[in-house]
Amino acid sequence: MNILVTGGAGFIGSNFLGQSVPRRPDDLFVNVDKLTYAANPANLAAVATLENYRLERVDIADRDAVAAVFERYHPDLVVHFAAESHVDRSILSPGDFVQANVVGTFNLLEAFRADARPGALFHHVSTDEVYGSLGPAAEDGRFTESTRYDPSSPYSASKAASDHFVRAYHRTYGLAVKITNCSNNYGPYQFPEKLIPLMILNAIDGKSLPVYGKGANIRDWLYVEDHCDAIWAVIERGRIGETYNVGGDCELANLDVVGRICRVLAEETGKPASDYERLVTYVQDRPGHDLRYAIDATKTRSECGWSPRHSFETGLRATVRWYLEHRDWVAAVRSGEYLTWIERNYGTRAASASR
Ligand code: NAD
Ligand code: DAU
Repeated sequence: MNILVTGGAGFIGSNFLGQSVPRRPDDLFVNVDKLTYAANPANLAAVATLENYRLERVDIADRDAVAAVFERYHPDLVVHFAAESHVDRSILSPGDFVQANVVGTFNLLEAFRADARPGALFHHVSTDEVYGSLGPAAEDGRFTESTRYDPSSPYSASKAASDHFVRAYHRTYGLAVKITNCSNNYGPYQFPEKLIPLMILNAIDGKSLPVYGKGANIRDWLYVEDHCDAIWAVIERGRIGETYNVGGDCELANLDVVGRICRVLAEETGKPASDYERLVTYVQDRPGHDLRYAIDATKTRSECGWSPRHSFETGLRATVRWYLEHRDWVAAVRSGEYLTWIERNYGTRAASASR
């Protein structure tokens, strides 16, 4: 079949293609990507030369370009990753998120509807951030598929809007859609604006480790390969029109995550952990910072037979090793636009005394 993967040159998309293209030689994978700052064709070096892979450089906010790709490939399956994905950037440039995440998803749905291919499926990759924030304690519960949408950031609002469009196109036009809402991913190829790769690379370089607020915000972490497996499990065994939550049952406060990174780095480099831990710097908090995310993935586990294969310990060690061993990749992505971003986001974020 023809599989159109949007955003395949980004973090999760390139892991998805890296896993899937060699395993499914009879399927054609078409990567539709604008190649923004977050994309890196080097992520796809292993699949770029395979016959069942194509790259189409397309901005999904460009309706005509999206329509042309559908007319060319008539996809049997769309796996929609493409998005502006970083919360801090959405606070500084919200309009980009409306274009990519809302208008882009709308254009894809319109093209999918016009193509009207029998049996075709639209799989929308979304986030747990659409549900907003949970209270701090386990008794405050976890997100289920029926939790009310309550997004806090322009990023999560734009993803919530995209989810609503996808569901509306199922209910109104009968399109075959599925949605997954996943918690925080980490692993190889993640752009170092996100917490885990930023902290690993800053620590290696002896730079400060900028913890927002008190570092008490809690996220549920999942190794990226497990997310990719979950997407395939839902595509293959999930019900049409349904939403599936995906998470790692791994709630950790940010400060705990940073401490674990320091300890794994110490073990991998032979330096004392204190060399890294002393770099922790508390900085001004993120506006609208959600306190806690926790996913109840019971539905995905029971209906689709999915469960994560990696613990946080094994996944974090693999991730730390990957960044230590891929210094060329790191050097390439940390030049140019990256330096501008670091100055923009952290240059004005005053250090705070809170602990
Ligand atoms: P990323 O920022 O690493 O990559 C995004 C990709 O989308 C890049 O290749 C970029 O070039 C492409 N893109 C952006 N705007 C585009 C446009 N207008 N047209 C075409 N391509 C465009 O993101 P990621 O972390 O890999 O996230 C992928 C998807 O998964 C997103 O939809 C995100 O909301 C969702 N998600 C991410 C996480 C996470 O922890 N990273 C968790 C849950 C869900
Ligand atoms: O929950 C899923 C979401 O996870 C995805 O939808 C998003 O695309 C993805 O970016 C991620 O969002 P977060 O905002 O949770 O991820 P981030 O890595 O930016 O931040 C994780 C936590 O770490 C958050 O509480 C903010 C904090 N943080 C982040 C950075 C970049 C810091 O304390 N310091 C930092 O420098």
